[in-house]
Amino acid sequence: MCGIVGYLGKKSAVEVLVEGLERLEYRGYDSAGIAALEGSAIEIVKSKGKIADLKAKLNGNLSGSTIGIGHTRWATHGRPSDANAHPHRDCTGKIAVVHNGIIENYQELKEFLLEEGHIFLSETDTEVISHLIEHYYKDNDLFTAVQYATSRLEGSYALVVLCTDCPDRLIAARKDSPLIVGLGDEEYFFASDIPAILKHTRRINILDDGEIALITSSKVEVYNSTGKKVAKKEMYVEWDAEAAEKGGYDHFMIKEIHEQPQALQKTLSGRIHSEKGIVDLKEVSLDAEKLRNINNVAIVACGTAYHAGLIGKYAIEKLVRIPVEADIASEFRYRNPLIDDRSLVIVISQSGETADTLAALREAKKRGAHVIAVTNVVGSTVSREADDVLYTWAGPEIAVASTKAYTTQLVAMYLLALDLGTKLGTLSQEKAAEIVKALAEIPNNAAKVLEQAEKVKSWAKEASVWKDAFFIGRGLDWAVAMEGQLKLKEISYMHAEAYAAGELKHGTLALIEERIPVIALATQEELYDKMVSNIEEVNARGANVTGVTFEGNKELEKAVNQVIYIPETLPLLAPILSVIPLQLLSYYAAVERGCDVDKPRNLAKSVTVE
Ligand code: F6R
Repeated sequence: MCGIVGYLGKKSAVEVLVEGLERLEYRGYDSAGIAALEGSAIEIVKSKGKIADLKAKLNGNLSGSTIGIGHTRWATHGRPSDANAHPHRDCTGKIAVVHNGIIENYQELKEFLLEEGHIFLSETDTEVISHLIEHYYKDNDLFTAVQYATSRLEGSYALVVLCTDCPDRLIAARKDSPLIVGLGDEEYFFASDIPAILKHTRRINILDDGEIALITSSKVEVYNSTGKKVAKKEMYVEWDAEAAEKGGYDHFMIKEIHEQPQALQKTLSGRIHSEKGIVDLKEVSLDAEKLRNINNVAIVACGTAYHAGLIGKYAIEKLVRIPVEADIASEFRYRNPLIDDRSLVIVISQSGETADTLAALREAKKRGAHVIAVTNVVGSTVSREADDVLYTWAGPEIAVASTKAYTTQLVAMYLLALDLGTKLGTLSQEKAAEIVKALAEIPNNAAKVLEQAEKVKSWAKEASVWKDAFFIGRGLDWAVAMEGQLKLKEISYMHAEAYAAGELKHGTLALIEERIPVIALATQEELYDKMVSNIEEVNARGANVTGVTFEGNKELEKAVNQVIYIPETLPLLAPILSVIPLQLLSYYAAVERGCDVDKPRNLAKSVTVE
């Protein structure tokens, strides 16, 4: 994810900024840049690649400046390049801006600014901010210009502005993207993350949504969205540098599990209109006419992404009424798949670089299929080679075990099913509106599931001595069971299997004996009674069953040893919520067993070899 640092004080700004950006490197980025005020001009140096590349370009220059802003960019709008790297400037060269977040209405703003004669140098959404500030900038009043400009922005932002006319101040604003003020001794900082400034100060103010802050070398002032000055509480950071990188969590995996509400919100942002009950996927170029030409859909991916594909299969078949195969990429590519120019192939890949998924994509393209990529990494190889790209906007995932990437992939699959079903008319407007409304509530519901982390933690203590575990479910619950067992295997090194509950009696039931742990997912209304019968089958053999179901379903308590509840939503969307306790279970069990949670043995984050 992008990182921000701003500095104003007596030290060399460039040194402070570069060092701060280095502290944010662990978050992942593809380019970096700084802007510093040197004399009466803003000098901007930026580079695609690593901070070492930026340093090489700086070559020791600008070391006399004491005010500046810096940024590490993780591409969203516009591929990784020197031009798209931040900071971005206005036409006059007086104003420079760094920004984290996504400006959803940037196209509309850009058109307005182009008509006003502004010239853009990048493909980013951020560049509209510097031009918008320029548009409102009058009488050396940068603060009012930032107020007006931010009032026109839709989406999320944390931004810091540097202006040649105000060499004694930096101005920052935030909405739905973190930003802090570092309070030093005759020096002040802005940063998106604590590690960036930890070397210089542990005293901070946390900015809230809608606030605009101004720092000079002697003070900080913060104003709320109505322009009223607010008194901020000073906080003291106790964390060491390593804990700060993980936002105070012990591991990246648990940090990423807890980031899911925000990540899900970002995936949905700008793509659904819950009042109108419609989905708006500009990214998909297939119109109704082209879609009518499609005979079949193949969803191809590996590992966790494949499990997201299984949910996608259910959703698309249900809402679009078209045959869908979900396939493991390493199988798909070698089995002469029945794919041609009347096929739609959807590849799912967090990294966008997985060798098997990429080969499957190329195979599909060779056969003339239309390919949609669902990926988290802008500019990744699958995003460049696919016909259409649906980004998941989960932010960088650092832990090897995928969590927030998976749940955001699920959202992407639901959005796609809604888009295709609406275009083809297989989905009524009322049904689409009902799903859209439920999707809009998913981020809040995910936050509610996370409130049960402590309960799952004590369950995980018990789980840490398991030799085997069985995850069972029917329909969509079976697909979630597959993901649950993979998580447990990969980070806690425990043997686990997932079964379609109705299939147990055809063999696996022989393995169920006294006290064997079974995790039974029971969220699918239409299959509920059948699922309870399957739970009774394992109960009869003495299994220790934990059920996962919707709040209010007290009935299940009669059939199982304990129940984990998730907030009510449509059964179709339940996987996004029911997987969260399973992620927490594997995490806490792995910690209890002393496993290397973020880097499990034998595994790599991105598998770029066959
Ligand atoms: C498991 C996990 C892997 C990946 C798989 C595909 O937690 O992360 O199973 O899902 O290696 O990776 P991507 O999505 O990058 O193609």
